[in-house]
Amino acid sequence: MRAKASDMHSKDCVKVAVRVRPFNKRERDAGSRCIISLVSTSISIQDPRDCHNRRSFCFDYAYWSHSGFTRDQTGLFVPEEPGGRYADQHSVFQDLGVGILENALQGYNATLLAYGQTGSGKSYSMVGYGPNKGLVPKLCDRLFEAIRENQENRQCQVFFSMLEIYNEQVVDLLSRGSRTAGGLRVREELQRGFYVEGLRKIPCENALQVEQLMEQGTRTRTTAATQMNANSSRSHMLIILQLKQIFSKESITKQSNINLVDLAGSERQRSSGSEADRLKEGTAINLSLTTLGNVIRLLRFVWFALFLHVAGSISFLHIRSCSPSSALADVAVGKKVVHIPYRDSVLTKLLQSALGGNSRTVMIATLSPADICYEESLSTLRYAERAKRIQNRAVVNESPTERLVKELKAENARLLQKLSRMDQEGRRATDESKELRQLLTQNELQIRAIQTLWEQHLQEALKDWEQQYANITQERRMMQMYPYILNINEDAQLSGVVKLFIQEGEWGIGLCDSAPRSISIKGLGIQEHHAVFRNEQRRVTLTPLTGSKVIVNGNAVYETAELQHLDRLILGSNCTYLFVGYPSERGGEDWSRYDYDYFQSELAAAEGIHLSESNTGCSQTDPSLLAVFYDYIQLMPMVAEANQISQELSKGVEFKLEIKNLALSDSRGHDLQKDIVVRVTAAGSKQVWMWSKAKFVNRKFLMEEVYQQFKAAQHEDNRVEGLLAVVLPRDKDPFWDPVEPLLLGTTHLWLQSLAFRIPLEEQLEVLGSEGTEEAILQAQLVPCTSTGLPLGEDDILIDPSEVLGRRLDFQLVLDQCCGVRWIREARNRGIQIGFRVFDCSEPLYTPAVWHNINPLLDHRVQFTSLQTSQRLLDYLQSSAVVLELWGLQEGCSVLSSSLGAVRMTAEGAFIIDLLHPSQAALSDSAELSCSVRALQQDVEELKSLNESLRKENHSLREQLNAVKNGGDGARGRSLRPSCDAEFARALKVFYHSMTSVRGQLQRLRRHRPSEESDLLGLRLFVDEQSRLLRDFSEQLEDGVSTLKQDVAAIVRRKRERSGIWS
Ligand SMILES: Nc1ncnc2c1ncn2[C@@H]1O[C@H](COP(=O)(O)OP(=O)(O)O)[C@@H](O)[C@H]1O
Ligand SMILES: [Mg+2]
Repeated sequence: MRAKASDMHSKDCVKVAVRVRPFNKRERDAGSRCIISLVSTSISIQDPRDCHNRRSFCFDYAYWSHSGFTRDQTGLFVPEEPGGRYADQHSVFQDLGVGILENALQGYNATLLAYGQTGSGKSYSMVGYGPNKGLVPKLCDRLFEAIRENQENRQCQVFFSMLEIYNEQVVDLLSRGSRTAGGLRVREELQRGFYVEGLRKIPCENALQVEQLMEQGTRTRTTAATQMNANSSRSHMLIILQLKQIFSKESITKQSNINLVDLAGSERQRSSGSEADRLKEGTAINLSLTTLGNVIRLLRFVWFALFLHVAGSISFLHIRSCSPSSALADVAVGKKVVHIPYRDSVLTKLLQSALGGNSRTVMIATLSPADICYEESLSTLRYAERAKRIQNRAVVNESPTERLVKELKAENARLLQKLSRMDQEGRRATDESKELRQLLTQNELQIRAIQTLWEQHLQEALKDWEQQYANITQERRMMQMYPYILNINEDAQLSGVVKLFIQEGEWGIGLCDSAPRSISIKGLGIQEHHAVFRNEQRRVTLTPLTGSKVIVNGNAVYETAELQHLDRLILGSNCTYLFVGYPSERGGEDWSRYDYDYFQSELAAAEGIHLSESNTGCSQTDPSLLAVFYDYIQLMPMVAEANQISQELSKGVEFKLEIKNLALSDSRGHDLQKDIVVRVTAAGSKQVWMWSKAKFVNRKFLMEEVYQQFKAAQHEDNRVEGLLAVVLPRDKDPFWDPVEPLLLGTTHLWLQSLAFRIPLEEQLEVLGSEGTEEAILQAQLVPCTSTGLPLGEDDILIDPSEVLGRRLDFQLVLDQCCGVRWIREARNRGIQIGFRVFDCSEPLYTPAVWHNINPLLDHRVQFTSLQTSQRLLDYLQSSAVVLELWGLQEGCSVLSSSLGAVRMTAEGAFIIDLLHPSQAALSDSAELSCSVRALQQDVEELKSLNESLRKENHSLREQLNAVKNGGDGARGRSLRPSCDAEFARALKVFYHSMTSVRGQLQRLRRHRPSEESDLLGLRLFVDEQSRLLRDFSEQLEDGVSTLKQDVAAIVRRKRERSGIWS
């Protein structure tokens, strides 16, 4: 569907289009829902977590490219039926491209920006994939068509430039020389505004040439990215087409710049939770995008001010122009000056004319339709909404060069006139006329130089073309003769652009630049001589050389391996290639499934982390698990790279991915979610840090920056040795953090016994996030009096609801921790235990204990509820205190409880259960209802057991009454407590057995095969698992049958006694 809004803005407002792409594989796997809908030019987005929250926006164009399409024989995506709502590349071009082209032909500057999160379809819209050509190639096709059609009345020149802005450095993607350190300079001239000094401008005469240049640029981008270990999603790609039209009849020259910009991914790396990084975000990486956002936000404000000014609401509006190419740089509204920060970043400098200046500008905002991208999509829509308020003032440009020719010609005419006047006056050739003639020839030479410049450029470019063309033809020929490896990049746009051929014989691969019979590749972790390919008798093998990392199909190889067609290779930390065999081995298979995700999933699978493959198409995988899986495979290569960087910079820091089971810190022990953390270890000091995903990603940006600076310095000064440790001040060192206490593991102390006022003593296994045993903790729960005296057996309750409304006191005792792994590993460490009970506002900690593997804690805390609520009772019956084992390291401060907001009794007990029931219901109704729903099954069973006991009791009581009515009241009264006590004892025994059953269940839940398990390992795991299961069911059955027997015995005894009475 393509729709155009009525022309509601004046012509020079930035035109904004939005486009929704189809689901990608990840989204389909996750069973994503489409949360975007389009009606005409308005677009609505639905908050997946709140059905009442739907936002609508209206734009100039809105494109539905999500569904309703098929792929035709040529691979083109087209609407399923003619006139269907699917917007294909052609219809997007018809609206946006044609307009830009017309503007350019009229002599206006034009700009097209693609904005959106990574993977949302920016490059698809701008450049396109395969036959689905995007706006840039289509625009070039049409441009040269228009030039051919109008050949008689104008002469046209087209110059093509392509550049990348990465980390505020400008890289010329068409440069033939080596990269300049620090990138190209952006300069400013009064007439031209900002421009890139020394950027290659290549004259083109047809669309094919442009396509080849784009290919060349993409290839440079790809190799530069691997070499510098940069991520393309964080770079901006700019194509500048300069169009000069010379209308000789009218003697006018029009010149226009067309900027085509594929912006960096708009996603922000949000820091999770309250935790923020000590080091500032790798801001430089997104400085350009951030500044673009600021410029757009302020320009919208200016637009609003202009509106108020026109409406008479503000009387003073002053616009100060900074350079002629832009309309606005500083705007004064009333006394306030609004500064538009164009100069703050490279991108905004280069786009100054496109934003609030002399250009007709279009923005295409691309969106993922999936619920999991809600936040990013909403933020893209808000951004686009702001952009449409920007007003530009485009004018038709006259080229200064042509004016110069005109001026020179005029001057020549003047000089000639003067000369002829002198001749007429019969004056002899004086010095003056000699000078005039000299000037004349000079001017003429200059005119000719200007006019032949284009021809010369073209000649040079033609030579380049021929070379390029020969290379391409050669490559095509080689593809049909030899096997080769094909690069696979995280950015689909950069995949498959590098092909390295393996001809017959032996070929070394590595950094080796000039060695004969070698294939040179650059990238993190690639050694000088990395591996050897042998191609003999049409079989290709790969042999890793000592110390180099080679992975084939997910598995590390150390010896010669024969390669099969479509094998996946990873060389070094993360240079990924697909092996393409001899043409005879290639079938008609679809290679596109071997994308970057495929490589990383395969690697994760080899580590034992995988999703169960569903062949049915309807995936059953839990979405939160999927998210963790994709996080894992996203971080995996980054961790490998970080380790490599650390090694090359001799930082001695190691990174390791861990999956943290959040169930470990859930008070109900639910197997809720998992999260990814990165464990950071300093090899020398044995200091350990745990970084969240967000923190790691931010640090990785900063590490890359440090690494690139190091590489640049190494390049400049050959003496800098790679093995020298790079010393950074601590406030700039992304590898360092102050040491902090570390959460080593948790254990659950279930509270149910407290509801019955039964004491409990436990040996608890403290488990780390990966299921490792970190320590054994001896703990007790002691129901007690207000003064802390333990209650006796007679105080045991049969019905926990009896406690409602009454005072409840209990103590949590932490006796000792045994076999603490953390301290066993390094004796200079210490531990603390942290816990939080019910609504106690602060976590509490035991004092720190150091240097001891079996430290005595001897810590006793009393809690008091002055008036026990249903909520507390529910909590006791269904929850556990999560006891956290914190590891202390030398130099870190210990954890302490801030008791400011905590209320205490005179005896020093912590008061819990403070909220009034209605308040509690209000504040926490969601949690409460959740808690009610989530009462575990075994609790239910216990309740129903209780219920049947109660019935039994009731019937006994009735019998008693009958007896009483019979006249023997005293004996009846004396019977009841003794019976109840018997039940209570039986229950207590049962209860104790259930606690250990529960422990067993927890162990079972956490029991996972080890990451390195091979088949044998897995078999052992299965045996172990079945043993655990058997133990579990035996314990469960034992417990239940003991209870049954006890109850039966009690009932029998009662019957016997009542038999005596009756
Ligand atoms: N409109 C669309 N129709 C079909 N496929 C699309 C569309 N937009 C994007 N894609 C696919 O989604 C993937 C990511 O798109 P891409 O343009 O590379 O994202 P970006 O440049 O925003 O990071 C690519 O594989 C691309 O083919
Ligand atoms: Mg892209």
